[in-house]
Amino acid sequence: MPRLLYGGDYNPEQWPAEVHAEDAELMRRARVTTATVGVFAWSRLEPAPGRYAFGWLDEVLDRLAAHGVGAVLATPTASPPPWLGVAHPEVLPVGPDGVRLSHGSRDTYCASAPAYRDAARRIAAALGEHYRGHPALTMWHVHNEYGTTCHCDLTAEAFRSWLRHRYGGLDELNDAWTTAFWGQHYTHWAQTRPPRRTQYLPNPAQVLDFRRFTSDELLAAYTEQRDVLRAATPGVPVTTNFVLGGWVPVDHARWAREVDLVAIDHYPSDPGAGAQEQAAFAADLARGWARHSPGGPGWLLMETAPNLIYAADRMHTKEPGRMARHSLAAVARGSRGALFFQWRAPRGGAELFHSALVPHAGPDSRVFREAVALGETLDRLGETAGGTVRAAIAIGYDEPSAWALQGAGLPSNRLDHAEEAELVHRALWRRGLGTDVIGALEGLAAYRMLVLPMHYLMTDAQAAGVRSWVEAGGTLVVTFLSGVADECARVRTGGYPGALRELLGVRVEEFHPLGPDDRVKLSPGPGTDAGAAMAGELWSETVHLAGAEALLSYRGGVLDGLPAVTRHAVGAGVAYYVSTRPADEGYGDLLAAVAASAGVTPDPAGAVPGVEAVRQHQDGRTWLFLLNHTGEGHEVPAAGTDLLTGATVTGVLRLPPGGAAVIRES
Ligand code: GLA
Repeated sequence: MPRLLYGGDYNPEQWPAEVHAEDAELMRRARVTTATVGVFAWSRLEPAPGRYAFGWLDEVLDRLAAHGVGAVLATPTASPPPWLGVAHPEVLPVGPDGVRLSHGSRDTYCASAPAYRDAARRIAAALGEHYRGHPALTMWHVHNEYGTTCHCDLTAEAFRSWLRHRYGGLDELNDAWTTAFWGQHYTHWAQTRPPRRTQYLPNPAQVLDFRRFTSDELLAAYTEQRDVLRAATPGVPVTTNFVLGGWVPVDHARWAREVDLVAIDHYPSDPGAGAQEQAAFAADLARGWARHSPGGPGWLLMETAPNLIYAADRMHTKEPGRMARHSLAAVARGSRGALFFQWRAPRGGAELFHSALVPHAGPDSRVFREAVALGETLDRLGETAGGTVRAAIAIGYDEPSAWALQGAGLPSNRLDHAEEAELVHRALWRRGLGTDVIGALEGLAAYRMLVLPMHYLMTDAQAAGVRSWVEAGGTLVVTFLSGVADECARVRTGGYPGALRELLGVRVEEFHPLGPDDRVKLSPGPGTDAGAAMAGELWSETVHLAGAEALLSYRGGVLDGLPAVTRHAVGAGVAYYVSTRPADEGYGDLLAAVAASAGVTPDPAGAVPGVEAVRQHQDGRTWLFLLNHTGEGHEVPAAGTDLLTGATVTGVLRLPPGGAAVIRES
């Protein structure tokens, strides 16, 4: 039977031999299958240029193999050794202020510096050559969390050639960047630069293109290592761990096509009940990216914290049971296992208090006992490895739109595409409506309903694709600020939301962004049954009907009586426009009503609030994952065999507080 992967980042180089022996024993007890090794070990693997010291890693891999633990072997290129920056200062990155950073942390590299790229390829090739055929080697983990941005002169050169390739000529570039504004017209390629610190607001199209360039440059750095490794060890999957966050200059939807298995790191930031909603969103997003990956539909939770939630101000300890529930939530959504950062807590270094399966307290600890229990749990779920979720609803998540909305000069400084997508996801999640979060508007035929929250940038091709899908019967929900700009962050004129105006049958004349404490009242339009009065927050705007009907209207204020939420029948489908963010339960009520009208109802039915229920499918078989995130016991409809206890369930399952069950359905 296949097994789910279980384990995490393992750094034996930080410990003496007696600890290695204990690691082996503890991994056996916890039923660890997988250890990610070598992630930041470049200076130990290549202590001087071209002088390799693989002996210690040989011992690690041999020991793992002897204990039946697979190695996810990393290339160490996220942490170049001190000697590289001394020999080639140009490999150290330069900030937007022109200041070159120094060695002393990690991720300190310039992806456009030939000396860095050559050195990275060489160490990857040496590792590939050396570990070809090693029995422990199960997967390559290139680099770690690609995301470093550099603004140096070498980067400027690379950015220029990227721009020439994208635009062909300077006229096209000037047009795309609207350089007629503030007299930024370029007359020679040499004048183009990364967006370094400047006097006042930077050019938004330049900033956006620099993010795209950085994503492509980092991707080139990844693919050249991947190709070296593929050549050395054909058949061994190669991936890298995606990191989520607004700062990350990586377009993961594009990258997903280049990794053999989509792998994400996820660290919730909400210590309360929001953490499971964040975890569910990240997992559904990973699955959405995995649609484009050769290894899809499966994906892998490569890193998460066993015991802590890192909020802005402090670390919050996870209460008992949460580590297992979060892991099962990922597995339920198609993760091929649960890997953690990290196996053993370090004694020193910058992250000395980050949590681990073996904490500072050692194995005689709650966390390690839970780690052992989780190993047993995952061991019982082998038959589910390979399953996936079937969602009828997709949420569009567009990283370039998120980047563009981080710019200056926008109508509100509270615009956050990722947050908006998470809100939609949460509203549907709380009503038991499963979603795929999709990074590219492709393969829409698989869905009955699509929500585009604040999808600010939209190409003509994307708009045309969405239109044909609606005409063929799709149910579309578009929220404010979607399709307003083209791919160069230029507004589509003639009324918002330019790219989708005709499809939605509305014309938006002007924006009325709201303050943090503002609310606008909404009331059902004439002749509709859109439900009780609701309120909107964050945003409002002047909407005119141009074919659509009003479902909800603004009540009071300058927009009194004007449409707020509209519906437009198009071909066999229907397109809704939501011009404000419905507050409180209003978002969920609205989306659930639209879903019901599209024939999409909660699956499984009868969900209990606070009990996460996810149905997984594989080859005609189904498993129901039930996770009780509440402090009370609940009775949940279920029938089949609980894989965690072996018990037969005949209609109703009693889940204890914080408990979990995985039912092979009969
Ligand atoms: C990321 C990194 C790890 C570690 C953790 C800490 O996932 O990949 O090396 O820094 O964050 O939370």
